[in-house]
Amino acid sequence: MNHQLLDEAAQKLIRQAGERIKDSLHKQMTVTEKTSSSDLVTNIDIETEQFFVDQVSKQFPEHRLLGEEGSGDVITSFDGYVWIVDPIDGTTNFINQQRNFCITVGIYKDGIGELGYIYQVMTGEMISAIRGQGAFQNGVKLHPLTPVAFEDSLIGVNASWVAPNRHIDHERVARLIKRVRGTRSYGSAALEISYVVTGRLDAYFSMRLSAWDVAGGMVIANEVGALSGTLGGAPFDLLKKQPFVIANPALFEELIKDYLVK
Ligand code: IPD
Ligand code: CA
Ligand code: CA
Ligand code: CA
Repeated sequence: MNHQLLDEAAQKLIRQAGERIKDSLHKQMTVTEKTSSSDLVTNIDIETEQFFVDQVSKQFPEHRLLGEEGSGDVITSFDGYVWIVDPIDGTTNFINQQRNFCITVGIYKDGIGELGYIYQVMTGEMISAIRGQGAFQNGVKLHPLTPVAFEDSLIGVNASWVAPNRHIDHERVARLIKRVRGTRSYGSAALEISYVVTGRLDAYFSMRLSAWDVAGGMVIANEVGALSGTLGGAPFDLLKKQPFVIANPALFEELIKDYLVK
């Protein structure tokens, strides 16, 4: 399969899905609780995922699709081409703010990330990558990340770190937060990953993410030299819900060793 053509098709689908989401903002939407009042899904999340399922099965019948809302395939292994889709990353932002949410897609072949996308719907910013060919911001090639010192860095953190949780050592994370220039919490993992690969943030970590939150971002990360993995530095397992960190290569090792590994 020609990845240049696959890239064109994927970008077209993502932009079309984005237009559908924008059109839906003028209509009544249905919000449903999944596991709690902070875990929501709307009819637009579900319809957007269904749009990808329909279009991918029509255009690429041999490809499979793993989506957050479950309308794709049941994936237990990553043989062949698999589209990993989060139709709306940042559903709470979508509902409460109508901004700061993304469509993110990773296309993997035999478990290797080949193409990655993070599309910020309301700004139209498309971050994309093809493995081995670089990462792009609205079609313009992104430079490899330049080294940064902890003291000058801005770090994205899922704000739930302040609540007790078993994934981190509170005191060490507090020390990290005192050492860096500042922290931000935007409420969309994909958006925060897009900020790391473009140098607007120097790292981002979260206590529990799934394949669809990070699959596209990890492909883009590789192309600009950002490093990612679990909080212990192991490769992120796309079949599990896990803690996740992505960082500028100058920070990654120390970030894990001194602050994040438990
Ligand atoms: C969520 C967002 C959020 C992160 C959650 C994710 P969703 O994705 O990325 O920033 O903290 O863990 O589940 O549900 O809005 O697609
Ligand atoms: Ca969700
Ligand atoms: Ca998500
Ligand atoms: Ca989602």
